[in-house]
Amino acid sequence: MKRALFCPPTYFEIRDVKNPYMTGAQTINRDLARQEWEALTQVFRDAGCQVETIEPVPDLEDMVFAANQVFVGDSPKYGKFIVPSRMRYPSRAREVPYYVEWFRSRGYKVINLDFGDDFLEGHGDLLWIANSRAEASSVFAGYGFRSSRGGVEMFADAMRKMEISVIPLELINPSFYHLDTCLTPLRAGAAMVVPEAFSADALATVKKMIPRLYEVDPDDASKFVCNGVAVNGKFITPHLTQCVARALENEGLEPVLVNTSEFEKSGGSVFCLKAFID
Ligand code: ARG
Repeated sequence: MKRALFCPPTYFEIRDVKNPYMTGAQTINRDLARQEWEALTQVFRDAGCQVETIEPVPDLEDMVFAANQVFVGDSPKYGKFIVPSRMRYPSRAREVPYYVEWFRSRGYKVINLDFGDDFLEGHGDLLWIANSRAEASSVFAGYGFRSSRGGVEMFADAMRKMEISVIPLELINPSFYHLDTCLTPLRAGAAMVVPEAFSADALATVKKMIPRLYEVDPDDASKFVCNGVAVNGKFITPHLTQCVARALENEGLEPVLVNTSEFEKSGGSVFCLKAFID
């Protein structure tokens, strides 16, 4: 059974502007955020996932976005491991030790990298993508806004030792500041992509590596449709637009709609709110 880690939105709020979606002094309706979060975790359970939670910490207003604090991996040589992130914003950096401890106490090895002035933001920018033959996966690694090129390269070096291939991709559009806002794995060999989010080289790489690509226009993507999650034949998404519906139909995925309005104000949705932990 697939397991996903979530953090309740007990202390969730907007304090500063970390991405373009957070501008305009919006306030979070915490009761609504809680309802949306409960409904979302139930949708994951209904889709056959086991839901795990981490205790929220006062004063860590973005800790609810469980995708960012660590990279979760598994290798035949090392077994289950995590790579702790180096988050660009200090308030988010303070979340990392809590997540590291959660994984460490459950037997995951911790691979600490010495990032210096570089940044790496976990599964915001690091996506496991199954190759078309599905017997192996690679990690697609976005950089440019939150993770830095050096951070991604350092990560790639560490993964090479474990025979995990990492494919760096430069992001160029601030509206798609994390890779999980503009590239969405659907099945082995199939993904949705926002072409405008990538440098020409990065887009060419994506096209070469993923045989069935569905292009999503930036307007649709700014509603976080590329932040949906494909799991067990379903696609959990905050919105359903025409091009997404077509991609899902082609891939035989059933759309499941959820409301993530409060989290979208902070620049995140379904994918950002969880970490798959195996
Ligand atoms: N407010 C959060 C931030 O800017 C949102 C994080 C969204 N997470 C993600 N995986 N895209 O850091």
